[in-house]
Amino acid sequence: MLIAVDGPAASGKGTIARALAKHFGLPHMDTGMLYRSVALTMFRFGGDPASEFEAVRACEGVAQIDPTDPELRSEVVGSIASRISTYAGVRAALLERQRNFASQAPGAVLDGRDIGTVVAPNATAKLFVTASPEVRARRRAAELLARGMPAHLEDVLIDIRARDDRDTHRDAAPLVQAADADLLDTSDMEIDEAIAAAIELVERKIAALA
Ligand code: CDP
Ligand code: CDP
Repeated sequence: MLIAVDGPAASGKGTIARALAKHFGLPHMDTGMLYRSVALTMFRFGGDPASEFEAVRACEGVAQIDPTDPELRSEVVGSIASRISTYAGVRAALLERQRNFASQAPGAVLDGRDIGTVVAPNATAKLFVTASPEVRARRRAAELLARGMPAHLEDVLIDIRARDDRDTHRDAAPLVQAADADLLDTSDMEIDEAIAAAIELVERKIAALA
C-alpha cells in the first residue's frame, strides 16, 4: 500500500499526506524536508547554491539536521531548496533514502514533487494536489505569520510563481502530474474537505484494484 502525493508549494499536499497516513495507518515522509535539509546545511555553512558540487556534498549532512528545526520552513531555505533540487546529482543522492522508506511493509505515504513519476512509479494510489497560485500564496503567507515569521502577500506570490516555474521546467524530475494520478484541485476547498476528497480517491483506487 503505497500512496504518492505530489503537487506545487502550499497546495495542501503535506497536510493531506499526513491525514492519509493517519487514516490508513501508514508511516509518512515529507520528501521536501530532505531538499530543505540540504538547503539549510548550505545556508548554515555558506555553501554556494550555484555549485552542484557543493550541493551534492551538502547531501551528506542531511541526517544531522533536526527535522523539527523551524528554520527548515523559512522561505529562504525553501528558495535554496528549489534551486539545489534542479541538480541531477542532488536528486540521485536523495533517491535511495526515499525508495527505502517507500519499500517498507506494510506501506507508506510520501509527498513531494516526483513521487508518482520517479520515486514510486508503481504506487498503489497517486494524487496530484494543486490550487491556484493566489490561493497558495495566501495559505503560505498565513502559515508564515502564524509561525511568527514576516510575510508580505505580494512577495510570497512572486516566490511561489518563481518556485513553480523552476520546479516545472527543470530537466531532472520536473513537477508534472503522472499519467495515472488523480487530480485534486483544492482552490475552493477547506482543508477538511480536501482531506475527505483525498481519502475517497484513494479508497476508490483500492476498490478498483481489489
Ligand atoms: O512546502 P513546499 O511545497 O513549499 O516545499 P517543499 O515540499 O518543502 O519542497 C521544497 C523544494 O524542494 C521545492 O521547491 C522543490 O523544488 C524541492 N522538492 C523536489 O524537488 N522534489 C521533491 N520530491 C520534494 C521537494
Ligand atoms: O505541503 P504543502 O506545501 O503543499 O502544503 P501544506 O503545508 O499542507 O498546506 C499549506 C497551508 O495551507 C496549511 O496551513 C494548510 O492548513 C493550508 N490549507 C488550507 O487552508 N486549505 C487547503 N485546502 C489546503 C491547505
